[in-house]
Amino acid sequence: MSGPDGGAAGGGPGEAGNGVPIVEIEDLKTYFPIRTGILRRLAGYVRAVDGVSFEIRRGEVFGLVGESGCGKTTLGRTLLRLQRPTGGVARLEGRNVLEFRGRDLRKMRRRMQIIFQDPVGSLNPRMPVSDIIGEGLLAQADVENRWGERKVRDKRVGDYLEEVGLRRDYARRYPHEFSGGQRQRIGIARALALDPEFIFADEPVSALDVSIQSQILNLLLDLRDRHDLTYLFVAHNLSVIQYISDRVGVMYLGKLVELSPVAELYANPRHPYTIALLSAVPDPDPRVRKKRIVLTGDVPSPAAPPPGCRFHTRCWLREQLGDPEECATIDPPFREIGGGHRVACHFAERIREEVSTAAVIGVEEPPGVPGGADPISQAS
Ligand SMILES: Nc1ncnc2c1ncn2[C@@H]1O[C@H](COP(=O)(O)OP(=O)(O)OP(=O)(O)O)[C@@H](O)[C@H]1O
Ligand code: SF4
Ligand SMILES: [Mg+2]
Repeated sequence: MSGPDGGAAGGGPGEAGNGVPIVEIEDLKTYFPIRTGILRRLAGYVRAVDGVSFEIRRGEVFGLVGESGCGKTTLGRTLLRLQRPTGGVARLEGRNVLEFRGRDLRKMRRRMQIIFQDPVGSLNPRMPVSDIIGEGLLAQADVENRWGERKVRDKRVGDYLEEVGLRRDYARRYPHEFSGGQRQRIGIARALALDPEFIFADEPVSALDVSIQSQILNLLLDLRDRHDLTYLFVAHNLSVIQYISDRVGVMYLGKLVELSPVAELYANPRHPYTIALLSAVPDPDPRVRKKRIVLTGDVPSPAAPPPGCRFHTRCWLREQLGDPEECATIDPPFREIGGGHRVACHFAERIREEVSTAAVIGVEEPPGVPGGADPISQAS
C-alpha cells in the first residue's frame, strides 16, 4: 500500500462500509455564545455547526474536509459529547447519544473515542505511557474487565502498544522520549485499548512529517480491519482524504455542502466550493495543467453567516451565471443527485463538465506545443 504522497488515486478502501449506519446525525447544531462588556452580555452566537445531517456506515472511513474554522472539530466533539449541542440528534446504533446520562454516557464514552491532531499536547508529559493509556482503562474499569487491577491493566497496555507497532517495554517511558510518529501511535493505542467501535480522528497526521503520515494512515486502515472500527476522519490535505476515505463530506461555514463516495467526489465534484478546493491540489504529472480556481473574498464570520447560500459571497459559479437572486436569498437544500451524491447548490447541474474537469483533473499539454493553445482558458 503506498501513501497519499505516492499519488495512489482512490487508494482508500472504497469497498468498506456495509451500508448500515452506525452513526446518524440529524440537523445538528452547536453554537458558542459571544459575550461582551464587563457584564458579559450575550451579543450573539458563533454558529460553529449549523444544521448538519448525514450518516456514517459501520466499517467505513468518513472523511471530512473544509477550511479552518468551518466546524469540523466542533462537529466531532459534539458527537462524542465533549461539547454541548444546541440542537438536533446524533444517534449511535439508533439511540440519541445527546440524551445519554450516567451509566449510558459512561458506556458510550468507551465505544466512541478520539485521536487528536497534536501528539505532543495530547499526552501528559509527566506521566509514563503505562499511565497515559491506563488512565482511560481505570475510568472504565468494572468487575467484568478487571481493568481496576494493575496487572490486568499493564498487560492490556503492553498488548495495545504492540498492536500499534511499539514495544511493550515502552510503557515505562515518558512522552518526550518518543518521536512524533511514535507519540501518535501512543495516542492511537490509548483510544484503541478501550475497545471502541467508532473513532473520531481529528487531523491525526497533520502535525507529522510526510514520510511518517503514510505509516500512520496505513496503521489506521489496518486497525480498522482488525478491530471492526468506523472512523470520522478530519484532514485539510485532500490527498490524505482521498487516500483513506470511503465517503467524503465537504463542510463550509458550519454546513455540509457536498457528500459523496470518494471516487465520485474527486472525478465529478458538483459544488463550486469543492471544485475550487480540488483545483488547488497540484498534479504530480508536470504535463498536466489544472485550472486553478482562486476563491476571492474573506471567509464570512460564522457569527453572521450570509443569507441564502452561505457560499454566495465567494462563489465563482454564481458570478458566471450572472448573479441569480436565489443564491443570495434561498438556502439551497442538501439534495441527492444520484449514486449517494448529495450537494447543496441550486445550480449544481449547470457546472459545465469541461470546467470541472480542467479544474480537478487537469488537461494534458499536447506534446510539442509548449505555450501553444490554451485549452483550459477556452473551456472556462
Ligand atoms: N470553545 C469555543 N468557544 C467559542 N468559539 C469556538 C469554540 N470552539 C470553536 N469555536 C469557533 O467555532 C468555529 C468552528 O471551530 P472548529 O474548531 O470546529 O473549526 P475546524 O473546522 O475544526 O477548524 P480547524 O481546521 O482550524 O481545526 C470557529 O469559528 C471557532 O472559532
Ligand atoms: S447556490 Fe448559488 S452561490 Fe451557492 S454554490 Fe450554488 S451557484 Fe454558488
Ligand atoms: Mg479542527
